[in-house]
Amino acid sequence: MSSSNINILDDNKLISEKVGYHLEEMILQMMSTKEIITIGLSGGSLIDILASIVPHLQLPWSRIRFFFVDERFVPCTSDDSNYGSYQLKLFRQLPISERNIIKIDSTLTTVEECAQDYQNKLEELFIEPDKSFDILLLGMGPDGHTASLFPNHSALNINKGLVTFVKDSPKPPPERITLTLNTINQAKYKIAVVTGENKSTIVKEVLQDKNRTYPIGQVENLVWYLDQAAASKLEII
Ligand code: 6PG
Repeated sequence: MSSSNINILDDNKLISEKVGYHLEEMILQMMSTKEIITIGLSGGSLIDILASIVPHLQLPWSRIRFFFVDERFVPCTSDDSNYGSYQLKLFRQLPISERNIIKIDSTLTTVEECAQDYQNKLEELFIEPDKSFDILLLGMGPDGHTASLFPNHSALNINKGLVTFVKDSPKPPPERITLTLNTINQAKYKIAVVTGENKSTIVKEVLQDKNRTYPIGQVENLVWYLDQAAASKLEII
C-alpha cells in the first residue's frame, strides 16, 4: 500500500481544505501547458465538500470546464440531479457561466440518446492529441461503486466510448449516464473522497488487501482522501 496516495484527515473541513489545495496545485501546474482544464464532478457528500472550498480557490475560471463523472437521468430540477445540486450549492458561488459547465441533457427522451449526446459534447472538449480528461473527483458508495459503475454490473465492462448508460442501477434512480472505467483510468489525475464508517471494510479490502473486484478498486493511480471513520479498518499506513 503506497501511503503517499492515501490521506487520512480528521473531518470533512480538513478534507475540503486539502482537496482544495490539491486542486489548486494540479490546475496551476497544468495551466502552463494547456488552455482549458477539464474537471469531472461526482455526486453524494463530495458536493458539500467541494462547495465549502472551491469558491475560495484562486483559479483561472474562464479556462475551467466542469463536467459530470456521472448523472442520474432525471430532470435537472429534481433533488436527484447532480447538476441541480451543484448549481444550487457550488456553481452559483463561482464567477462562471453556462459555457463553463458541460451538462448532461436530461430533457432528451431516452437514456441512450442522453448518453450519446453527452459523449458528443465531451468529445468537443478534447484538443488533439490530448484525448484525456484532466481531473476527476470521485466518490465511493458503501458497495464499492464509483461513478455509476456498480459491482458486477455489465456497464463496468463497457470500454468503448467515453460514456455509457445504466438502465437498472441497483441504487435508485435506475437510469444513469456514466463515464466508462477506461475513460476514468485515462484521466490525468483521479481523486476519491470517501467518508464514513460504512465504507471502512471496502476501503480496507481495496487499499490493504488489493481487492480489485470493486469498481473503485479498478481505478488506477487514485489519490484517496479518507476521514478517520472510513480509514478505521486499515492496519498499516
Ligand atoms: C449516486 C451517488 C453516489 C455517491 C456515492 C458516495 O449517484 O447514487 O452520487 O454515487 O457519489 O454513493 O456518496 P457519499 O459520499 O455521499 O457516501
